[in-house]
Amino acid sequence: GPSSSCGSLRPGSLPTAIDAGRGVGAIPAGSSQLPCCINAGVVLAGSFAQLARAAEQSRDTMLVPKTALDTPPLEIHTLGAEVLRQPARRIGKVTEQTRELARDMLRSMYTAKGIGLAAPQVGIHQQLLVIDLDLENAATPPLVLINPEISAASASIDTYEEGCLSIPGVYLDVVRPTAIELSFRDEMGRPRKMKADGLMARCIQHEMDHLNGVLFVDRVTDEAGLQKELKDHGFQRQHVQSVS
Ligand code: NI
Repeated sequence: GPSSSCGSLRPGSLPTAIDAGRGVGAIPAGSSQLPCCINAGVVLAGSFAQLARAAEQSRDTMLVPKTALDTPPLEIHTLGAEVLRQPARRIGKVTEQTRELARDMLRSMYTAKGIGLAAPQVGIHQQLLVIDLDLENAATPPLVLINPEISAASASIDTYEEGCLSIPGVYLDVVRPTAIELSFRDEMGRPRKMKADGLMARCIQHEMDHLNGVLFVDRVTDEAGLQKELKDHGFQRQHVQSVS
């Protein structure tokens, strides 16, 4: 997740770390708030009534307390674990079991103070990920993405500092497209499309990498910084599989 994606936000780093001028999903300068989980304009098709119904439904089915548990239901594996490198399979039918897995992932993510988590991080190789950029607001439903596919990515790119619940403490710059469009199924199995930019786009791309066994450190180009951060946090360079 991140410090920006799957993991944890580096405390205090966010408001200045994001380009405030970016538009939808951007964080106002000086604000201490994370952007709302689902950016305005994110859902392409649908009236306000449809959006409200969708939010209501996900509130019913997905909302779990955004608090730390003494014993989270799932263990989050860390860099060096082979499970992080295995690709995830598409989910055929979205069932109550799928939703229970998503809820357990959310409980584990909230306990670890992360804003995103992908199923392979808990050793389950299904194309399922959960994101919540609004940890402070108990009523904001999280985003559940099943079988996500990016249909378009912007030519413009950004550099942004990421972190990951599977590589705790490590924060490094990664370059990615600024904005994306994707299709996916939601927690009720409904096909959805969405556009995202800012932190949401960053987070989705980071989590989707996990579904392919790719970790953000694989994308880091600052080799010296990478080696230092890994060493400082007890991880080994040999477990990084550079993609560039
Ligand atoms: Ni991650």
